[in-house]
Amino acid sequence: MNNFRVLLVLTVAVTMSGLWRTAAADEPPNRSPALQAFPDATGWIATLKVDGPIDRSNPFFQSLGINGRSCATCHEASQGMSITPAAVRLRYLATRGRDPLFASVDGANCANVQPSNRAGHSLLLNHGLIRIALAVPANAEFSISAVRDPYGCALQVDPGTGLLTASVYRRPLPTANLGFLSSVMWDTRETAAPLATGNTFAANLRADLMHQALDATLGHAQATVAPTDAQLNAIVDFELALFTAQAVDNDAGFLNVGNALGGPAHLAQQIYYPGINDSLGAEPTGAAFSPTTIQLFGAWAQPTRAPYVPAQRRARADIAAGEKIFNTFPLTIADVRGLNDNGAIGRPTSFVGTCTSCHDAPNVGDHSLPLPLDIGTSHSTMPGTESDPAIAAALAELSAPELPVFLIQGCANPFNPGQPASFYTSDPGKALVTGHCSDFNRVKGPVLRGLAARAPYFHNGAAADLEELVSFYNQRFQMGLTDVQKRQLIAFLNAL
Ligand code: HEC
Ligand code: HEC
Repeated sequence: MNNFRVLLVLTVAVTMSGLWRTAAADEPPNRSPALQAFPDATGWIATLKVDGPIDRSNPFFQSLGINGRSCATCHEASQGMSITPAAVRLRYLATRGRDPLFASVDGANCANVQPSNRAGHSLLLNHGLIRIALAVPANAEFSISAVRDPYGCALQVDPGTGLLTASVYRRPLPTANLGFLSSVMWDTRETAAPLATGNTFAANLRADLMHQALDATLGHAQATVAPTDAQLNAIVDFELALFTAQAVDNDAGFLNVGNALGGPAHLAQQIYYPGINDSLGAEPTGAAFSPTTIQLFGAWAQPTRAPYVPAQRRARADIAAGEKIFNTFPLTIADVRGLNDNGAIGRPTSFVGTCTSCHDAPNVGDHSLPLPLDIGTSHSTMPGTESDPAIAAALAELSAPELPVFLIQGCANPFNPGQPASFYTSDPGKALVTGHCSDFNRVKGPVLRGLAARAPYFHNGAAADLEELVSFYNQRFQMGLTDVQKRQLIAFLNAL
């Protein structure tokens, strides 16, 4: 389907269903859902707000600090509630680097870069990365030094705080689908109130997101005055009402027809609670883990005569086949910190699983309990630094950005505890929050919806597209996918 036709159909559908109305001043507030849809790499991304129209006066859209930024500076519906390098480059071009996004505090490779210095913004312009400066915990079990410092601020004593501070560079996570989270931020650092039990989940999620919004305002927006509780609550109410998913695929058409369950309206109905379908046996109801965690496109696996356009029929069959690969294709999980060194599951040297061993939450694909993992994405590509050949081969499939490299010393080898280990990393992940050796390189697997709108992937944007991502997994977990299977898996991921 061409983009214009889709826009027309979506507009007519939305208008007829009354989803998109603006209330006059004397009308009662409109609580019917509102939909926003934008073209993306392979179709249309849609964000549904379940409790009424998008209110641009919400503090999410307001500049609450001193540099002109709002939350929407880095979280845009047209980019899957994240930001993409292509759109970032357009903004740079249009404003000659003066858009608030490029504020040097974290919108440049280092804080001393001028807006007009294009090269000094290369990580944001080319990979959509924001600099996150994190203090090395005072009680860290390890020592850290910078062995590669391409921009000059890998590891510095912060003049304001006097603390040793590391620069890591990360992709903005989407501010939608947040009701499915088991941890907040890549390194889980905003999960002070745990999201692991049903009876406290709703209250703790709100508390975590309120604190996250406070930190985002003080950090990204450089506010000198904290936002009020009313503002923070309004931001969190707004975020929690948003559901983002791919709605239309250019080849397969609407993703919620023919008994398929794609698109944001179905997603908004999805049941979730902490531990649902837990792959490690902690489902609170005692139910066994089902690897078939994504069940959106099964109906398209059946041969039918509809739709009548053969290309569309083939595209639907590919998406269904990709879903089956995601749920059932065996892969060998080894050298993953958080799993293969995990005492609770007997420290298995390796075991056979599926994509869904890690992405277990039904129809959303994050992990339904907090389980940040090191799958190798932040390991160093410097020659001779990676001891696991599968990780080295996997990293060779990616377009990793030029990032600082840290040398870590003083930890034991997690897979061989008697042995000391020193290693290289571009992002210590959760270890930079806790100071624990056991947390090295561990980041959460995000919710896997709305992917087509927000390349590049992984916390550091190392997978430029889903082709690279699938090739990474194929090597990393020794899958042996054929070219056809890769294409099907990619078609499926693009339809999420
Ligand atoms: C300069 C860009 C930028 C701005 C402005 C920004 N964010 Fe973010 N946001 C990010 C990045 C980068 C991450 C991931 C950082 C990490 O995990 O270390 C993130 C992560 C998040 C997450 C975590 C989602 C998850 O799955 O864990 C939430 C929620 C969020 N931001 C909300 C906000 C809110 C609310 C505001 C406004 C008060 C805001 N952001 C402003 C860049 C930004
Ligand atoms: C051993 C656990 C594990 C397995 C198995 C696994 N993943 Fe992941 N996945 C993760 C983690 C952890 C991340 C985040 C890594 C990072 O950002 O560095 C991730 C990230 C992703 C992302 C990127 C999301 C984003 O927003 O950037 C996609 C897509 C994805 N996985 C798909 C898959 C597919 C497809 C498979 C099977 C071929 C798979 N995963 C197997 C743990 C796993």
